[in-house]
Amino acid sequence: MSEQNTGPENLNWDDLGFSYRKTDYRYISHFKNGSWDEGQLVEDNTLELNEAATALHYGQAAFEGLKAFRTKGGDINIFRPNENAKRLRQSAERLLMAPFPEERFIQAVKEVVKANEDWIPPYGHGASLYIRPLLIGSGDKIGVGPADEYIFTVFVMPVGSYFGGSLKPAHFVISDFDRAAPKGTGAAKAAGNYGSSLMPASKAKEAGYSDAIYLDPSQHEKIEEIGSSNFFAVTKDNTFVTPDSPSILPGITRQSLMQLAEEELGLKVEHREVYVNEFDSFTEAGSCGTAAVITPIASITHNDKKHDFYSDTEAGPVTQKLYDLLIGIQLGEIEAPAEDWI
Ligand code: COI
Repeated sequence: MSEQNTGPENLNWDDLGFSYRKTDYRYISHFKNGSWDEGQLVEDNTLELNEAATALHYGQAAFEGLKAFRTKGGDINIFRPNENAKRLRQSAERLLMAPFPEERFIQAVKEVVKANEDWIPPYGHGASLYIRPLLIGSGDKIGVGPADEYIFTVFVMPVGSYFGGSLKPAHFVISDFDRAAPKGTGAAKAAGNYGSSLMPASKAKEAGYSDAIYLDPSQHEKIEEIGSSNFFAVTKDNTFVTPDSPSILPGITRQSLMQLAEEELGLKVEHREVYVNEFDSFTEAGSCGTAAVITPIASITHNDKKHDFYSDTEAGPVTQKLYDLLIGIQLGEIEAPAEDWI
């Protein structure tokens, strides 16, 4: 549900959910005649588009998601914005859009966060400021082809948990539908990937699940990802596994967890094909992403068979440790493995 609220002073920081809220400022820059303008902060939250804009017809649209956190000491930490800047450039290349320079992306994110400082949830509520950069083809084109004009914008809103509770185990179902083709746009954060996931996700939710999980489109025997996040599991021999596939989103949270599992928890990490017939060897399973953070997977239903993992009510020990490390780093309470993480 869209929400237009009056101001941050009226928010219940403990009950934000994951909803759109208009905040005070957003950043916008236009690409015309072969270059980006200098960009500016504006108060308007609407975009004016030509009716033949390629974003509307031919899917020239990609976005990012990252978060800013208020630390105990009052600082503001933004988690790995350089990785989002790089991924948006890669999405732009795949969709033949004008890339937004990575240094300017980081600068724009910082400016919007600072301008909306009052909207950053205070420390201690398990909430954060979600940052949504968006790149779209705004120029008109009626024959199928890339636009000559683009808009890059960044807006923010305070959010709580995505799947209904921090570290609250959720139930998922394997979808009969495919999300992305092997050499398609699955590895880009293309708006169209999410458009195609809406109907399967809605069917999953109607059936009582939190979201759908997609299998590899050619054989339907390997796990790809969840509509809104990546998948990981922990095996009986304490290995952290997560799918390797050319058609899934290279998640920044997932990449961070692989590193933390190996370097901080001393686990073996396998980034490889993950088969649905391996479920019995998993002691824990989880969903991870900027929005989802880490959501333990209580069960996955596949072909009417329910596979249970760890617990319905609490996170398994590895999931819990990874969550504590990730949140600790984001809040500046645990030293990050590299300076550019914050
Ligand atoms: C994110 O985690 O930022 C996502 O992209 C997930 C979803 C809200 C689209």
